[in-house]
Amino acid sequence: MQNKEALTEENKTKMNLDKCKIRFKSHYLAAFFLIALATSVFYLTGENSAISEEQDSQKQNARNEEEPKARNDSVLSCNLFSGRWVFDNLSYPLYKEGECSFMISDYACEKNGRTDLKYQNWKWQPRDCDLPRFNGTAFLEKIRGKKLLFVGDSLNKNQFVSLLCLIESSLHQSSPKEVIREDNLFIFQATEYNATIGFYWSPLLVESNCDDPYTHRIKDRIIRITAIEKHAKHWTDADILIFNSFMWWLEPTMTILWGSFGSNDAIYKRVEMKLRRYEMTLNTWSNWLEININRTRTKIFFMSLSPYHFKGESWDDPQHCYNESEPIWKENYWGIGTDTEMMHAAESALKNLERRGLKIEYLNITHLSDYRKDAHPSIYRRYSQPPNEEQLATNPKGYSDCVHWCLPGVPDSWNEILYSYIINSL
Ligand SMILES: *[C@@H]1O[C@H](CO)[C@@H](O)[C@H](O)[C@H]1NC(C)=O
Ligand SMILES: *[C@@H]1O[C@H](CO)[C@@H](O)[C@H](O)[C@H]1NC(C)=O
Ligand SMILES: *[C@@H]1O[C@H](CO)[C@@H](O)[C@H](O)[C@H]1NC(C)=O
Ligand SMILES: *[C@@H]1O[C@H](CO)[C@@H](O)[C@H](O)[C@H]1NC(C)=O
Ligand SMILES: *[C@@H]1O[C@H](CO)[C@@H](O)[C@H](O)[C@H]1NC(C)=O
Ligand SMILES: *[C@@H]1O[C@H](CO)[C@@H](O)[C@H](O)[C@H]1NC(C)=O
Ligand SMILES: *[C@@H]1O[C@H](CO)[C@@H](O)[C@H](O)[C@H]1NC(C)=O
Repeated sequence: MQNKEALTEENKTKMNLDKCKIRFKSHYLAAFFLIALATSVFYLTGENSAISEEQDSQKQNARNEEEPKARNDSVLSCNLFSGRWVFDNLSYPLYKEGECSFMISDYACEKNGRTDLKYQNWKWQPRDCDLPRFNGTAFLEKIRGKKLLFVGDSLNKNQFVSLLCLIESSLHQSSPKEVIREDNLFIFQATEYNATIGFYWSPLLVESNCDDPYTHRIKDRIIRITAIEKHAKHWTDADILIFNSFMWWLEPTMTILWGSFGSNDAIYKRVEMKLRRYEMTLNTWSNWLEININRTRTKIFFMSLSPYHFKGESWDDPQHCYNESEPIWKENYWGIGTDTEMMHAAESALKNLERRGLKIEYLNITHLSDYRKDAHPSIYRRYSQPPNEEQLATNPKGYSDCVHWCLPGVPDSWNEILYSYIINSL
């Protein structure tokens, strides 16, 4: 219990920081509005085609039951990231919110009072193939004796908790369902499989003044752009590493520190250069991986940007995740929370690493998640200082979390994709 509560601390800060950023962005509202106008003409004909009707999906579902595709290498040659959301309340959700011992209130939207629960019933359907059905037992067998570690920010923690919920029904009833924290590391031991599933908090990958998993409500982010060892030494013994790091870089200005925190000859330089500082960090990260990763042992994944839905310039009214109960139905929708320049920086860092002999799987979940404006906690989140009813009634959007995802929900689909890689390629 204690550990679980501890696990939730970080998010309150994250939300506030994110909100600052969104406010800053509102200066560009006019520009986005123009772009939205131009593009909406384009999309008019595409309405509704990203999502199929229920009947269709139930037929689809019936077909899947007849011929389960548990292990099929062709899944990996298929583009799992292009497809559509299909309503399927027979198979989804894959677990119940209230039955997951690992659930934390940050993501427990139903417990927090959300009554429209349709967000739990969508299945991600790739266009050219079917995702294998998530089988917790098969997954745990696959990682027997191994260590799987998520590394990054609270979106990665969202996915970590989702994965624990997905496997829980495959654990012995008597085995402890506990996450133990040690500094930045949150660890769950699946003892009967001798497997470890963990999450390591380092939202900027390199050292920064936001490295405390609880206390990182810091206006001026300071990063040591070439210093990663302090965190990375905790990653070397993992067999599967799943990184993410986008959100925290979107800050318009940050301070770069040359030297170490508190030393006399340290140089602090406040910079904009959003893209360059991200590239420099990815470079530090890549160099570390190239030297320290055992290519035979460790399989590495990198999650693409998880989109947020604070501003709706590019979909129609209402312009916010608050009170949204349906996905976006415009085919090829891209949200304004999707910084393609930053994504390209990450993609080219991964390509570079591949040229240097280190293959990293890029799980390109941005676009598929972009459709899901309905799936954020909004006001059904955890509050560090809960607003009173009047505050909430007058300004629900101001109190909404449009960054993280309710569970069961979108991160389950990310994990189904991760599952298909792990089950087919390890
Ligand atoms: C794998 O899937 C493809 C198409 O999805 C199918 O044609 C093929 O027969 C499958 N192979 C196996 C071994 O199930
Ligand atoms: C699934 O959805 C359909 C249509 O909305 C509804 O008729 C049915 O009762 C639902 N089934 C379950 C198990 O919720
Ligand atoms: C899940 O995987 C286990 C171990 O591979 C297997 O025994 C079991 O039949 C699978 N369950 C389903 C529903 O496919
Ligand atoms: C558990 O896994 C570790 C590697 O992670 C291995 O060193 C150890 O021998 C395993 N223990 C058992 C009992 O299999
Ligand atoms: C890399 O990992 C493999 C498989 O676990 C192991 O056999 C090998 O000794 C490791 N190499 C180094 C240099 O540690
Ligand atoms: C929420 O959305 C529904 C329609 O989907 C609408 O009737 C209702 O007024 C909205 N509530 C608020 C508080 O915006
Ligand atoms: C990621 O997916 C998007 C949308 O499907 C696509 O446009 C983009 O090219 C993909 N990126 C990579 C590196 O595959």
